Amino acid sequence: MEHQQSNILVEKRALNLSERTVVRMRLENDEAEHCSHDAELPNEETIPTIDFGLLVNGTPDQRSAMVRLLATACEDWGFFMLVNHGIKDRLRDEMLEAFKAFFDLTDDEKGSYIRAHVLDPIRTGSGFNSKTDTGKCSRHYVKIFVHPEFHSVSKPHNFRNISKEYSESTRAIGLELLKAIWEGLGIEESQVAKAVKLGSCFQILVGNLYPPYPEPDSELGFAPHSDHGFLTLLYQNGVNGLQIMHKERWIYVKPVPNSIMVNTGDHLEIVSNGKYKSVLHRAVLNSEMARMSIVTVIGPSLDAIVEPIADLVNADSPAVFRGLTYRDYLEHQQSNSLVEKGALNLVT
Ligand code: SIN
Ligand code: FE2
Repeated sequence: MEHQQSNILVEKRALNLSERTVVRMRLENDEAEHCSHDAELPNEETIPTIDFGLLVNGTPDQRSAMVRLLATACEDWGFFMLVNHGIKDRLRDEMLEAFKAFFDLTDDEKGSYIRAHVLDPIRTGSGFNSKTDTGKCSRHYVKIFVHPEFHSVSKPHNFRNISKEYSESTRAIGLELLKAIWEGLGIEESQVAKAVKLGSCFQILVGNLYPPYPEPDSELGFAPHSDHGFLTLLYQNGVNGLQIMHKERWIYVKPVPNSIMVNTGDHLEIVSNGKYKSVLHRAVLNSEMARMSIVTVIGPSLDAIVEPIADLVNADSPAVFRGLTYRDYLEHQQSNSLVEKGALNLVT
């Protein structure tokens, strides 16, 4: 309930961001589609695309090129599209179907997952339009902790197997990306892995459902926010809606088919001592089609006291964040009415 209220407050505030222009990325051969909050992009820019195959199986030169591209993507965008990642279409589609079947359950079947505490391993809820009070729903979500302990909803019956496979595959990808990110930052992988206890890294799997919304210009599906972890990997059901803040403008992301959208989170900003900023993003609604997204966030161990990595702190570049456990950060971010990147204030 607290979470719903905080979403509502944040959304109201978000719609007042009139000084910021919303822009639409124009990618080759894409036709304009109806969507709220969009405007023309004056200068074309290209969202970085990282080839995962070249990163992990390429020649040393190909890997170095990808590590450099990844470093630029994290520093300049906080966002990239990941191609050639090996996740099968079959697995993505089964995961989407399993989430859909969960959302179709009755409240009785969802039982105690409704209104659970933010640190409970399974929590589901909905966000409602506070302005019109018509009960029109802009977002349903379910959040499940899948590592270091794996949890699953009990219905639909196949959810456990599918979500286990999905979580494991995306975690392996996320950890490879992080390895390359440490390399790009010039810090020892073993040093970071030990500092943030990556062996017991926290991973959460989230399903979002945004039903068709009659007045998409009047409401957001998900208010502007940054994610709490190191990296977030996102797939959607073919209906666009994700926007990222880039150079003070909202960029409408139209992903390369089958790519995974990846964004940087607050804990990457913390460990990199502010070099890689977490990206502000939001989801807009669609009047005709239901949109679904599968989100997985990979972060430090919940018990790790996370602070800037020692190698990145010196007299010229003093630490800009203080150490705090990821658990305390997560609880603070998820239970307060914070706006945009407000959670980071806790550690500055
Ligand atoms: C999220 O930020 O967690 C979800 C955004 C989306 O559904 O595109
Ligand atoms: Fe997010």
